[in-house]
Amino acid sequence: MTIVTTPSVTLRPWTAADIASLAAIADDKRIAANLRDRFPHPYGRADAEAWVAFASSQPEPAVRFAISMAGEAIGGMGLERLDDVHRGTAEIGYWLGAAHWGRGYATDAVRALTAYGFETLGLERIQAAVYEWNPASARVLLKAGYVLEARMRRHVVKDGRLGDVLLYATIREEHDLRGVR
Ligand SMILES: CC(C)(COP(=O)(O)OP(=O)(O)OC[C@H]1O[C@@H](n2cnc3c(N)ncnc32)[C@H](O)[C@@H]1OP(=O)(O)O)[C@@H](O)C(=O)NCCC(=O)NCCS
Repeated sequence: MTIVTTPSVTLRPWTAADIASLAAIADDKRIAANLRDRFPHPYGRADAEAWVAFASSQPEPAVRFAISMAGEAIGGMGLERLDDVHRGTAEIGYWLGAAHWGRGYATDAVRALTAYGFETLGLERIQAAVYEWNPASARVLLKAGYVLEARMRRHVVKDGRLGDVLLYATIREEHDLRGVR
């Protein structure tokens, strides 16, 4: 079982005990509006059950985590590796229950999962796709050492709204440099 610690939250596997709290905190339009459509809205108990069944049966090394505080799941995050010639790259994704926003938790979590991606998963590059209407997430990535590489114009259609996507990324070399500072 993989546990990733940070100065605030802990990243740990999803378990059946998280289903009720997941269904409660994930049912939030402000969260879904910034994620892919596979993160449903409304988000019901069946969605939480299906997610936990899927995420808790994954092989090691783990790539999907509950963001946990005092044992309670307050959000989720993961690294999704691309394939073929892009297999050295993963996309990082994350969300937090709105009651926990603005305390630096996501920044701690992104920093820790990024280190895990380079050191444990052997990734060369980690990237994130931020919708143009999401300045908080862009700020999290900048604080965690990611660089804005591109504005992908009209790359998202979300809830009928067309928008640009900001591509943020960090590479192994930057991670190594951060480590020796
Ligand atoms: C994005 C998200 C994970 C941020 O979590 P968080 O724990 O509140 O983030 P942090 O507290 O670590 O940092 C947030 C930063 O954004 C800033 N911020 C918040 N709202 C902002 C806004 N409207 N404009 C500019 N900056 C903003 C905060 O001030 C903070 O920066 P600071 O430390 O320099 O003051 C959370 O808002 C969330 O779950 N959103 C919905 C899902 C989502 O967007 N996921 C990411 C998809 S790419």
